[in-house]
Amino acid sequence: MTLFSSKNDESLTDLESKMGPGKVSASVDTKALISQLKLIASDPSVLKGLEDGERLQLKQVARSAADALETPFETMVRIVYSIKLTQYLKPLLLVTARIGQDHGIFSKLCATAGPVSLGELLTASKLPCDTLESIMDSICARGMARRLEAQVFTATPVTHLLSSPELRAAHTHYHDSVLPALTKLKDFLHDPHGPRTAWQMGHDTDLSYYAWLDAHPARKEAFHIYMEAHVIGLPTWLDVLDFEKEFAAGARADDVIFVDVGGSNGQQCAALKERYAGLPGRVILQDRPAVLNSALEVQGMEKMGYDYLTEQPVKDSRVLYFRQILHNNDDETCKKILRAQLSAMGSNTVLVIDDKVLPDRELLTDTVESEYQASLSLVMRALFNSQERREAHWRRLVEEAGLVVKEVRKYTDWDDAVVLCVKQ
Ligand SMILES: C[S@@+](CC[C@H](N)C(=O)[O-])C[C@H]1O[C@@H](n2cnc3c(N)ncnc32)[C@H](O)[C@@H]1O
Repeated sequence: MTLFSSKNDESLTDLESKMGPGKVSASVDTKALISQLKLIASDPSVLKGLEDGERLQLKQVARSAADALETPFETMVRIVYSIKLTQYLKPLLLVTARIGQDHGIFSKLCATAGPVSLGELLTASKLPCDTLESIMDSICARGMARRLEAQVFTATPVTHLLSSPELRAAHTHYHDSVLPALTKLKDFLHDPHGPRTAWQMGHDTDLSYYAWLDAHPARKEAFHIYMEAHVIGLPTWLDVLDFEKEFAAGARADDVIFVDVGGSNGQQCAALKERYAGLPGRVILQDRPAVLNSALEVQGMEKMGYDYLTEQPVKDSRVLYFRQILHNNDDETCKKILRAQLSAMGSNTVLVIDDKVLPDRELLTDTVESEYQASLSLVMRALFNSQERREAHWRRLVEEAGLVVKEVRKYTDWDDAVVLCVKQ
């Protein structure tokens, strides 16, 4: 491969001699540092009692230190293989993880408490021996299993995580649905107003993303499991507002208090019902009929087929709620969706956009959070020719659609926020 020809090696060596691998101060006790980091890596519970902020700082500093120690060659390899990208977007890491899941390697390792031989994995995976050996090399090199001795392996906590239904769904979604679109993003950007999105180019289809999902039930199921699972444990929009006081005061049983537009399986209706048990008023889940068929059964939640590009049929709801809907759409389509709500909005109606609200001021330091938002924004570009938006962008967009932003409330460190809008 020409990249690794002697000529390139020479130039990399030149670079290395100019930059040097990260210089380590003589005052650092390298041996002690290594043994402390090893201790943490093998048993993170040694840091029990660490506050979350300190945990994140330690993670970030350890990562920055690892980057700083890289040689130019190592940096090149990291970038070529997108090693620093967010978990689901590291192509080879993702591909290896999917092979381990799809070929029953992880489930075999997890089914046995002790060591598992290559022979047992051959039977479970039905892969040829040479192929399995190189896959196990990659799996172990990426920390997804541990090699105990030649041709003997064991599961690690990561192996167990990768075998869980949620991670299987997440990886299926990113590998099978998102990755082909990302590989076409570069070409798409040469003609962003052309007939096909990067998504359509990657999947060689004229169907939109959601219509394609309808035609591929396993991918659709993975997407909806992932959508539900990826926010488990994080704060939610209900943590930054008092729904009863701020929106539902004085509501009677037949008043509509909440419409979740494009609400998928109804998890937000369920969360609202759970938090405010006994709150009077109707709660309605709207989505495409094909999605409603498999929505949750929530007591008191009505289901209604609705295309959000058409006039909103439910009038005077206290809240019209859009979670992770508008980031799937370009500005012009967002305005169409918002304008379709205007005639249904009464004087008490608040339209709530629940989406990322990126800070207007660009961050000067690279954090895991900012890397994640940047990656997600490119995924939106690849799938929908859309993006994650900054606060000023939201304000402009909402105003152009005939609404005005009353308030923006953030509820996670990952820039998740609710934008509360009323009619102009
Ligand atoms: C990214 S998901 C968000 C789902 C849900 N709001 C959540 O936060 O988990 C987008 C949702 O919009 C729905 N959707 C797509 N096009 C739609 C349309 N034209 N009308 C109504 N819903 C639509 C999809 O079926 C999907 O459930």
